[in-house]
Amino acid sequence: MNVNEARLHAQELDAQDALSSLRSHFDIPEGTLYFDGNSLGPLSFRSREVLHRTIEFEWRERLIRSWNEDWLDMPARVGNLIAPIIGAAPDTVICADNTSINLHKALMAAVALRSDRSEIVVDINNFPTDIYIAQSVASQHGMKLVAVTADEIIGAINANTAVVTATHVDYRSAHILDVEGITKAAHEHGALMVWDLAHTAGAVPFHAEALDVDFAVGCGYKYLNGGPGAPAFIYVAPCLLETAGQPLQGWWGHAEPFEFEVDYRPAVGISRFLTGTANVLSMKSLEAALEVFSGVSLEKLREKSVSLTSFFIDLFDDHLAPRGFTLASPRAPESRGSHVALGFAGGKELVEAMAAEGIIADFRPPDLMRFGFAPLYNTHQEVVSLVERLSSY
Ligand SMILES: Cc1ncc(COP(=O)(O)O)c(C=O)c1O
Repeated sequence: MNVNEARLHAQELDAQDALSSLRSHFDIPEGTLYFDGNSLGPLSFRSREVLHRTIEFEWRERLIRSWNEDWLDMPARVGNLIAPIIGAAPDTVICADNTSINLHKALMAAVALRSDRSEIVVDINNFPTDIYIAQSVASQHGMKLVAVTADEIIGAINANTAVVTATHVDYRSAHILDVEGITKAAHEHGALMVWDLAHTAGAVPFHAEALDVDFAVGCGYKYLNGGPGAPAFIYVAPCLLETAGQPLQGWWGHAEPFEFEVDYRPAVGISRFLTGTANVLSMKSLEAALEVFSGVSLEKLREKSVSLTSFFIDLFDDHLAPRGFTLASPRAPESRGSHVALGFAGGKELVEAMAAEGIIADFRPPDLMRFGFAPLYNTHQEVVSLVERLSSY
């Protein structure tokens, strides 16, 4: 397909896109082509509006009264907005901290539930923070860390395994791991499973409860568009909610925080996974951004994501492969998340040059250019513009 044909085809695809109106929720600067929603989602009009109201009314005018009027419930309220996005039941997700801290809490909780075991299995291609956290949990418990590739995880699980942790959508390649197979293998050997949904939530459907996942964590600032440093989330399976403890015992996770008791008593349910005061401004921004998902079918979002990434790969074959770019993401749509990675020797310089022109993607060493295609706001016509720019390098 030449570029003119691609542009005509993109116009047709965008005209048929039932989700096209969702882009109007976002204030993407005129002339900017944004392909980095897998790192930082754009500003939504609702986030700006709600932050303004929070500052001017809830903080300036209502002052500390706002805690009781609105803010105290936020972690649970925002958790319940995230729950359907990851296939979780109400009151099994809470919004708090960042993904690294939530992963630490989940792994420590899991290890405490399997304290007679000696190994933690981790995907060696996980985002580094996941590995660092697993290393620290393993060393605190005198456990062995078994770091293997995604394909080796199932074979590495055995009767010694306390917990397995992996990322659903690989942060570099966008490879979707076999959640069902890996979770089942962990359970067959009596181990617990912790999934990182950082590159999943908001772009790729997930079925935490149906797939019997024990714990899941993920980011608020990527496809959920909560803003820089937006708080993260943690999911705990209903059957573990009363038995799982967490290592960062703080007053927000206490059964009666305002009784100021000397001894810690964990709250009933998911609230025990809180530690300290909620980051109100960031959580407000995330809560507002999550309104965009209201009434949106996750299956339709996934269809559009697949359409965008598949279209990009078709154009890659015609225009970019002949110029030395290589595809570093799976070709099969069912194995691919919502970004596509291309290998290219001059990738770092090209990403920087494009950013200066307002075409924003990102780069991961040694040579990967990553392009996030967010189904809430990216268009097929933008994909053509991206390929045109890449092929003129
Ligand atoms: C897969 C994955 N997990 C975890 C993180 C880090 O999350 P946080 O900085 O919120 O701890 C990232 C950041 O990009 C990520 O891609």
